[in-house]
Amino acid sequence: GTDMKKLLAMFLSLGLVLSGCSSNPKHLPVVSVAQLVSHPSLNLIRDNFKKEMKKKGYEDGKNIIFHYADASGQVANLNSIINQFEDQQSDVIVAIATPTAQMAARAAKETPVVFSAVSDPVGAQLVRDIKHPGGNITGTSDEVQVDQILELAKEITPDMKTVGFLYNASETNSVSNLQKAKAYCKAHGLNLIEGTGKDITELTTSASVLTQKVDVILAPNDNTVASAMQSLSKTCIEAGIPFYVGADSMVKDGGLATVGIDYAQLGKETADMVVDILHGKKAGDIPVKVYKKDLYIYVNKKTLHALGLTLPESIQNNKKLQLMGED
Ligand code: TRP
Repeated sequence: GTDMKKLLAMFLSLGLVLSGCSSNPKHLPVVSVAQLVSHPSLNLIRDNFKKEMKKKGYEDGKNIIFHYADASGQVANLNSIINQFEDQQSDVIVAIATPTAQMAARAAKETPVVFSAVSDPVGAQLVRDIKHPGGNITGTSDEVQVDQILELAKEITPDMKTVGFLYNASETNSVSNLQKAKAYCKAHGLNLIEGTGKDITELTTSASVLTQKVDVILAPNDNTVASAMQSLSKTCIEAGIPFYVGADSMVKDGGLATVGIDYAQLGKETADMVVDILHGKKAGDIPVKVYKKDLYIYVNKKTLHALGLTLPESIQNNKKLQLMGED
């Protein structure tokens, strides 16, 4: 029994060493990128990261090794992905979105971590101070402009009195935005009702329940909601409820409107940070980059018409308006 175990352990470690050697014989720097789910916004960040690294002269297999992994929406998978990244002797781990970053943070003792698109890095307990992260972690943040989205909602749907807030309660990023929405509603005499769900099925049920009670629904840039947009936007349109969302991709996927950043920028900035670290800079010395300038108004024309709504002139004439959804 014990001999067998010893032999097995030897065999396994040999296997690891061998695969380590053969995959990186030239000892190239290794950059490993983890993502919880594959949804359009996160893919856009990843793809722009790739593009920017290439532009900076990094070519996979030639002067760098990239690993990309996607946890298919299962937080449990993230754990083994991070373990694997550590085994692969990564020089930098890139973690896209909050749940991934929270899981990757424990690797930061050994390996520098650069997070990307984390809405609230302090609330998610990744860093204590945006300007001076300290430790071995930094990254980029896509702060959601909840107030501006609700201002836009008041312009497009001025009669709204009750807002339904749809999210996955286990996403810290969404909980932060819920607090902002509550504060806004309180200050503007609006009611807020929460609806939660941890997957497509639960969220769709919550959305249908909300449509019976509210005038509009608002979802922040919640990863679970973003992955369920096809179903959720259909539910809202069929119930005649305007569905305001927290990201451009969610408007593209049928949400009515948002105010927010262009996510392509984030991937680029993430690449800048990774290169600085590869050149010897300490992650903790690089301030977190928060994107809250250069905001656009995104409106889905098809959804707008399906709901029988029209845009007020002030929005129609706004230079920052980007129309999505073919008619
Ligand atoms: N900000 C999200 C987070 O902190 C990740 C994210 C980026 C996102 N873009 C998005 C989520 C678009 C939903 C839709 O986890």
